[in-house]
Formats: sequence, structure tokens, C-alpha cells
Amino acid sequence: MKALVLAAGTGTRLRPVTHTGAKQLVPVANKPVLFYALEAIVETGITDVAIVVGPSAEDIKEAVGDGSAFGIDVTYICQATPLGLAHAVKISQDFLGDEDFLMYLGDNFVGGGVAHFTDEFRRSRPSAQILLTTVPDPSAFGVAELDLNGRVVSLEEKPVRPRSDLAVMGVYLFTSAIHEGIHEIKPSPRGELEITHAIQWLIEEGRDVRSTVTTDYWRDTGNVADMLEVNRHVLDRTGDSARVEGEVDADSTLIGAVRIEPGARVLGSRIEGPVVIGPGTVVTDSRIGPYTSIGGDCEITGSGISSSIVLHASTVRGVPSITASLIGRYTTVTSAPAGNHTHQLVLGDHTRVTLAG
Ligand code: DAU
Repeated sequence: MKALVLAAGTGTRLRPVTHTGAKQLVPVANKPVLFYALEAIVETGITDVAIVVGPSAEDIKEAVGDGSAFGIDVTYICQATPLGLAHAVKISQDFLGDEDFLMYLGDNFVGGGVAHFTDEFRRSRPSAQILLTTVPDPSAFGVAELDLNGRVVSLEEKPVRPRSDLAVMGVYLFTSAIHEGIHEIKPSPRGELEITHAIQWLIEEGRDVRSTVTTDYWRDTGNVADMLEVNRHVLDRTGDSARVEGEVDADSTLIGAVRIEPGARVLGSRIEGPVVIGPGTVVTDSRIGPYTSIGGDCEITGSGISSSIVLHASTVRGVPSITASLIGRYTTVTSAPAGNHTHQLVLGDHTRVTLAG
């Protein structure tokens, strides 16, 4: 069995961070979201993995390499334009051959892993097996309708009027039958070859399409709120005790699960876990946390940050109350000199700023 990870796509809802980097590399608890997907694949025992990459191919190749750090063998497949999930499978046919495969969307986060679903598929080998979960806003996802016996009777992609609240998660198990479905479908109104349509074709052909409804933790990290939520979820599971590999001075207080990575320095600050502070970062006279990940080589001085993600090499100086924020790489956020009540902004395209009154 092989695995296909989809990591092309444009990440428009995470702009401006995705103007300069892949959305699958945005860190959760200082680890790219894509790495959690690869680790979940490792747990299934699959070692032959292809990653479909788009414009941020070089960044992803640099981060993942040949896969040996994960114990897998990674092949890269280039999709120049994101023409849909089924299109990504289509261009991967040489790699997939006739083998069964696990398809994993590289921006999805599945809390309990996928090994148990993969084992179930290996035992019964239906044409396709999808994972479903109840969501409050099904129209943002593929939506499945089940009959009274729990069989999938229809699948729709982002329906305006969903027939159920069961969203299709970004983890699919397929036999080679899916290639027949992909061969038959046409692009959707949004111009994409939809994998949901290919699975719907299998259903209409009377093939065995099964679903597992799960309550396992799952998020599509495509937008900032969900990214921060996954960060909170992962940090919550980092254990109760502090792990200090950097330096913390006597004037600082650490509370709960705080991870200070090597080379980081915490001076005169209060860190309320769960928090992770990346290597080489210096935190001075600040309050950090809870639920906050600070990347490496940042400077946080005289500031307060909670429920947020700060990426690599950014500076926050003299800003007392940042919350629910995603701050990109090499970014500077500072307060104006005393007496100056105006805001001075230099913002990237598609940036969102919410200023306190
Ligand atoms: O997250 C689950 C949802 O994922 C499902 O409920 C939907 O049925 C499914 O269509 C998909 O919807 P999204 O609109 O969230 O897909 P998105 O465009 O965000 O792409 C998901 C991942 O696949 C992302 O890592 C980028 C990658 N991708 C996407 C496209 C369209 C590719 O590699 N190639 C592509 O052509």
C-alpha cells in the first residue's frame, strides 16, 4: 500500500502567510502541520509516500527531504496548477500504479492518527473508504448522506444546502477503482476535478464505498481560527511539566507545560503554559501564554502574547496584549513612542489587522 499526500494548492485563506510559504508548513507547536500528517502515515506502516507539490515545492522539499528523517521514502510529484484533488491523483498514476493507497490532505490534522482506519481498509478492501465527522458548518466541506444502514448514498462538494452535517475529512482510502471514477468525471463549477465526484461515480456504479463516522479530533487548518485551534489542541497534549533546554533567569516564572528550546532565553518574564518557545528566541520582561507557540530566533520584549502563533525571526516589542493572532516570519510589531497616538502600518497583501480602540 502507498500513500499520497496533497500539498499543492494556494492557501488563500491563510494569506499573507501563504504568499511567502506553503500552508502545509505553517507550524503548530513549532512543527509544520505537514509533519503531523507524515507521522500519522508512518504509524500505518506505509513507507512509499508521494507528496504532490505546487508553487512552494522547493520549501516542502527542503523541509521533508527524501523522507529518511521520518523513516519513509518520499517521491515528489509536481502539480503546476491546483486543478483539484482528483487531478492530483490523476497526475500521480505512474507512482500509484494499481496499488491501494491512502490519500491524505497535507493541511488536515487528525488527532488520533489514521492507523486504525487503514487497518480496517486493509481487512475489507472496499473500492473506497472515507472518514466522516459532524461539523457545525457542513457547506464548507464535502458532505455525505448516509442511508439507515450507514451506507453512503450521496456525496456533494460544498453544497449550499447540505443534506447532512457529516463532513468528508481529508483522509481517504482507495483501491485502484478510483482511477476509473476520475477518468469519468468533468471539472466542477469551481473548475476543479473533485475527488468527491469520483467517489460519487463509484457509488452510482454500485461499487463498495464505505464510511467511518468518527469523533476523533479533526481540523482542516485552512484558516487562521482553525490553525490556532489545532495549536491549542497540540499544546494541551504536551504534558504537564516544563522542559527547559534554554536559559531561564531567576526573575522569570514558568507555570505548567512550558517548553523552552535550546538556545532560547527567558529573562524577567512570566510564561504560562502550555507554551513552546523556539531555539534562539529571547523573551524579556514579557508575559507569554497560555496556548502560544513562539518560533525560533524571535525577540519578544515588554509584551504580552496569548493564544497565538508567532513564526520564525519575528520581533514584538512594547505591545502588551496580543491574542488570537498569527504573526508571520520576519515580522515586526512595536508600540509607538509615548505621546504618539497614531498607528503606522506596513502590511503585506491580504493582511488582516484588528486594532484595539
Ligand atoms: O479538508 C477536508 C475537505 O478537503 C473535504 O471536506 C472536501 O471534500 C475536499 O474537497 C477538500 O476541500 P478543501 O476546499 O478544503 O480543499 P483545499 O483546496 O484546501 O485542498 C486540500 C489540500 O489539497 C491542500 O493541502 C492543498 C491540496 N491540493 C488542493 C488542490 C485543489 C492539491 O495538492 N492540489 C489541488 O489541486
